[in-house]
Amino acid sequence: MSPAQPAHENPAHAALHIILLDDGADRATDIEGALASFHIDFQLSRVDRRIHFLSALADPPDAVISASIAGGYPGLDALRAARALYPELPFIFCGTPTDAEAVAAWRAGADDYIFLDELDRMPAALERAVARRIMRARNARRAEEIEGLNRELLQLVRHVDGVRDEEKKRLAREIHDQLGQELTAHKLGLYWIQRELAGREDAPLFRRVLDKLSELIDLNSTTIATVRSIAHQMRPVVLDEMGLVPALESLVRDFNRQGGALCGLRVGSGKDAGQDANQDASDNFAPLSPALETDLFRIAQEALTNIGRHSKGQHAYIQLTQSPGDLLLEIGDDGVGYATEDRPFGLGLIGIRERIRAHGGQIEIDSTPGRGTSIRVRMQLD
Ligand SMILES: Nc1ncnc2c1ncn2[C@@H]1O[C@H](COP(=O)(O)OP(=O)(O)OP(=O)(O)O)[C@@H](O)[C@H]1O
Ligand SMILES: [Mg+2]
Repeated sequence: MSPAQPAHENPAHAALHIILLDDGADRATDIEGALASFHIDFQLSRVDRRIHFLSALADPPDAVISASIAGGYPGLDALRAARALYPELPFIFCGTPTDAEAVAAWRAGADDYIFLDELDRMPAALERAVARRIMRARNARRAEEIEGLNRELLQLVRHVDGVRDEEKKRLAREIHDQLGQELTAHKLGLYWIQRELAGREDAPLFRRVLDKLSELIDLNSTTIATVRSIAHQMRPVVLDEMGLVPALESLVRDFNRQGGALCGLRVGSGKDAGQDANQDASDNFAPLSPALETDLFRIAQEALTNIGRHSKGQHAYIQLTQSPGDLLLEIGDDGVGYATEDRPFGLGLIGIRERIRAHGGQIEIDSTPGRGTSIRVRMQLD
């Protein structure tokens, strides 16, 4: 069942439901008379006591007009009670207040204050208040819809990511175990031939065959290394087997082998932040979920890839710091940087943001032309 709707949002009932809070004097009668003369289609609940006011609220009103400030059921109390139920409900005071009362009404969030001698302002005030309310309610609904769509999209991204990661894991294992073993078998075969021919280098044909064999053995070693590296990139076995810090160490080692910027890894647990990874600050780390470890690793991997591809820098760093309830991952370089408005579109940074959003974390990316780039990721840990 859909929640109760105020009349103006339900075209079948176009009459406005207005609650008029009576102060027991004649003001409410004047206001009611004025409303009747404005040709507004309305249905009025005129109430003077708290209990009646609260029960009138059960039928969602479009606006409240309070003739009461301090007398009867005080209007300010009514305003608080009504807004607790309907935060956007238009609430208009009407009467001859003292300055202090008028200020108190504004402070409490009244939409308008109409003096008794300017009741002809009422239709416009109602229209404005109701229009504002409709707009806010629509915006809130749209924001909710967008939020809902975002949540669905994130779930989808996570699902696709999960499927892709599982598939990569399987392929990586196949490549590593199957292809790796077959290549090793080839190598053993080549060694066998080499051993069988050993000592016969004097015959020119054997000399040439042995030279060729040496070449093939070298090529085989290179191919095994390539296969390992492909399998490793697809799914670093070390991440599954040993966790995030060793996987980051291995990522940094591979990066430094490429011979571009030189990257350092610092791992710290709050008080000892900044020490080298090999000092095992990670011993103090609270365990992270495999999904979070994978995402942090992928973020560092993409950021390092970007540094290698775009930064032209000399130095880079990865810093991972964990303190109770909080994790910080920072990746930076001293390269060329970029101006945000000139940054070409890419999927890498979008992917990083998505991964962080999925864990409810925050990200800051700072880049200035000529002054490097840094990516700072912060996650609350439960
Ligand atoms: N460390 C960096 N130094 C300088 N420029 C960078 C750096 N990181 C990102 N950029 C700039 O931001 C752009 C967008 O990066 P992003 O990772 O989103 O895409 P990409 O690397 O170009 O492509 P891909 O989708 O393959 O990741 C890059 O093209 C580059 O211009
Ligand atoms: Mg990229």
